[in-house]
Amino acid sequence: MQIKKISTNKTDYTDILLIGDEDEKMINKYIKQSTIFALYENNALTSACAVIQTDNETIEIKNLATYPEYQNRGYATALINFVCNKYKTEFKYLILGTGENNKTLEFYKKRGFQETHRIKNFFIDNYSHPIFEDGKQLKDMIYLKKIL
Ligand SMILES: CC(C)(COP(=O)(O)OP(=O)(O)OC[C@H]1O[C@@H](n2cnc3c(N)ncnc32)[C@H](O)[C@@H]1OP(=O)(O)O)[C@@H](O)C(=O)NCCC(=O)NCCS
Repeated sequence: MQIKKISTNKTDYTDILLIGDEDEKMINKYIKQSTIFALYENNALTSACAVIQTDNETIEIKNLATYPEYQNRGYATALINFVCNKYKTEFKYLILGTGENNKTLEFYKKRGFQETHRIKNFFIDNYSHPIFEDGKQLKDMIYLKKIL
């Protein structure tokens, strides 16, 4: 397993980021300021995450995705751990916002994140079309925080 820090040609990773955020316009809002971390297994791209600095003590995961054929092999967990280790001396908190999907919320809570607040109707107000996950329309953005 190899994790590469991507600082140039970041739009080469749009395809995988669309798994975590299906609206390319939304990805384009943060991709320029983001650092992408890309995980490769035997030279094949399996997972990626996009990270930005939100303030002096906080970094934020804007997107985390694993190609379906590589899911449930620990790659996204490895990326979260990598990001935590990389930033823990410089920053206090790792935050992220996600849709109200129990599977996703459980995934992050099991990895040390706690819910902090929600942005009401974020997915309705900011996306050009309704977003459905597991048959349920996403409305609020739930923010979670982990102490580094
Ligand atoms: C969520 C996601 C990044 C996990 O990637 P992964 O490489 O399979 O993760 P890991 O192998 O490290 O961990 C597997 C865990 O993900 C959970 N999982 C599987 N599919 C999932 C899904 N669609 N959504 C959320 N969690 C999922 C598994 O239940 C498992 O949980 P557990 O280990 O706590 O039992 C991946 O499923 C994905 O890209 N989903 C679609 C995009 C998305 O929902 N991104 C998160 C919001 S930004």
